[in-house]
Amino acid sequence: MQKEIKIVGICGSLRKDSYNMKILKSVGNLLPDNLEINIAEIAELPMYNEDLDIPDNLPQAVVEFVNILKNADGFVIISPEYNYAVPSVLKNALDWASRSKDLPLSGKPVSIMGATPGMSGTARMQVQLQSLCVMLNMQPIAKPDVLINAVHTKFDANGNFIDEQGKQHIIKNLENLVRLILTNKK
Ligand SMILES: Cc1cc2nc3c(=O)[nH]c(=O)nc-3n(C[C@H](O)[C@H](O)[C@H](O)COP(=O)(O)O)c2cc1C
Repeated sequence: MQKEIKIVGICGSLRKDSYNMKILKSVGNLLPDNLEINIAEIAELPMYNEDLDIPDNLPQAVVEFVNILKNADGFVIISPEYNYAVPSVLKNALDWASRSKDLPLSGKPVSIMGATPGMSGTARMQVQLQSLCVMLNMQPIAKPDVLINAVHTKFDANGNFIDEQGKQHIIKNLENLVRLILTNKK
C-alpha cells in the first residue's frame, strides 16, 4: 500500500554501533501507519569539492543521495555533537544536497534530534544545525526539543530504546512535522 507521507532520515554518525542511528531506526516504530521512513546513507559521499560538482557527471553516491531526498516530503536529521558542532559528515551531505539544481531540501519540514552520552543532549550542535537548515530554506520543527543525554543508559539488553520521556518528545516532534507536511500539501 502506498504510504501517504514520505520521510527521509539522515544520521550524522557513521559509527557501526551509533546510538543516533539506533534511535533513528526506532523512529519507524513511533510513526503513524500512513508514514514511511527511509534512511539516506551518507557514508559513501565524497568530500565536497567543486571540481566534482559537474551537473551531468556527478559522483554516483551523490546522484543516489539526491534522488532519495527529492522524493521526501520531510526529514528527520539526528546527529551527535562533535566538538560543540555539526559533524563534518553531516555538513558534507547537506553541502552536496544544497548544490543540486533539484533543490531536494528546499521548502521541506525537518525534525532535528540528537543523542550523546554527555549531559547537554547535543544542544550546541542543534543550534548550528537549525540555522544551517534555515539557510537551506528548510522548515525546522521548533518544539519540542529532542535532546537525548546520557544515551548510553537508555537502551535495554536487546538494544531497544527505553527512554520514555525521550520517546514522548520524539512522538510530539514528529506530530508537528506531519502537521506541517500536511499543511504544505494543501
Ligand atoms: C570528535 C568527537 C567530538 C566529540 N565532541 C562531543 C561534544 O562536543 N559534545 C558531546 O556531547 N559529545 C561529544 N563527543 C562524544 C559523542 O557524543 C559520542 O561519541 C557519541 O556516542 C557519538 O554518537 P554516536 O553514538 O551516534 O556515534 C565527541 C566524539 C567525537 C568522536
